[in-house]
Amino acid sequence: MTDPIPTPLAPAPDILRCAYMELVVTDLAASRSFYVDVLGLVVTEEDDDAVYLRSLEEFIHHNLVLRKGPVAAVAAFSYRVRSPEELDRAVAFYTELGCRVERRAEGFTKGIGDSVRVIDPLGFPYEFFYDVDHVERLAWRYDLHTPGALVRLDHFNQVTPDVPRAVKFMEDLGFRVTEDIQDAEGTTYAAWMRRKPTVHDTAMTGGDGPRMHHVAFATHEKHNIIAICDKLGALRLSDHIERGPGRHGVSNAFYLYLRDPDGHRVEIYTQDYYTGDPDNPVVTWDVHDNQRRDWWGNPVVPSWYTEASLVLDLDGRPQPVVARTDTSEMAVTIGADGFSYTRPEDSARAGDDDVLPSWKQGEYKLGHQL
Ligand SMILES: [Fe+2]
Repeated sequence: MTDPIPTPLAPAPDILRCAYMELVVTDLAASRSFYVDVLGLVVTEEDDDAVYLRSLEEFIHHNLVLRKGPVAAVAAFSYRVRSPEELDRAVAFYTELGCRVERRAEGFTKGIGDSVRVIDPLGFPYEFFYDVDHVERLAWRYDLHTPGALVRLDHFNQVTPDVPRAVKFMEDLGFRVTEDIQDAEGTTYAAWMRRKPTVHDTAMTGGDGPRMHHVAFATHEKHNIIAICDKLGALRLSDHIERGPGRHGVSNAFYLYLRDPDGHRVEIYTQDYYTGDPDNPVVTWDVHDNQRRDWWGNPVVPSWYTEASLVLDLDGRPQPVVARTDTSEMAVTIGADGFSYTRPEDSARAGDDDVLPSWKQGEYKLGHQL
């Protein structure tokens, strides 16, 4: 870790959960069609400039804001805090760190009251709020549920160059690590962190950043994710599928990665596990274990490692992207010197091209990509 972020003397705000993401989209009609007509998110409110969407079990105004703008990017990663007083704590915490902090009693978006926006020390636009309009929780409205119903916002995923630096800062903010990916040399490639008792509210993925890797919505069951794939096929929209469906090693969740009309990545996710005990064990995965990101050993497509969305400052300008200097996960698992194994005992032979059978080489080795 270089240049660690100091731990503020001011206590961190008590964060409940990831609550919504504000996405800037370049074609509002195309994005509305993708998130509403295809994925079935519910429109709480809309106007010429923005669409406010929620999942079927949500009771707060929205989980996703689509806002029309010139550059596809993320305007806010927004978290709900436990009480209105926590906003004062957020102001003090980030002010002590020298961050830009803005507070609006009337909120920054429709449906949200008093709130605080900051550019955090990692360069991400974070928001905190408590006051919010309540809307109908549609959990029991099965007449409105589709086969691929999205029932909750589950998590964010952020790309940042120095994962240990980001993790230390997020621990100061009150997050706990549940799982991570490392190598024997001590490099950390990614870490998952939670406030609510699931595997994560956000994850830090090593790469050029600050950028947004994905936003994830949960379904009730695995078959709901298969139904989304079938629907995309039926609509001849299968090119929105980037990776999956599959079972993650990390988090144990069933997953599917989609790209929206602007290329923003959306994960559909279900059935991770409870993590709420104070002594919940941290799971560390070896970066060379090819079951870490897909439990069935399916390769990760290169675009998933390299592509991500820009994030904006509080004036709506894209934040500059800083290159990762630690080794990249793609390089150590796909690159010319990369290797992966299925069984830990095979790792002793790591570097030997025969560790994986020929039919599994695929995207695990440079030169085997199509
Ligand atoms: Fe995810």
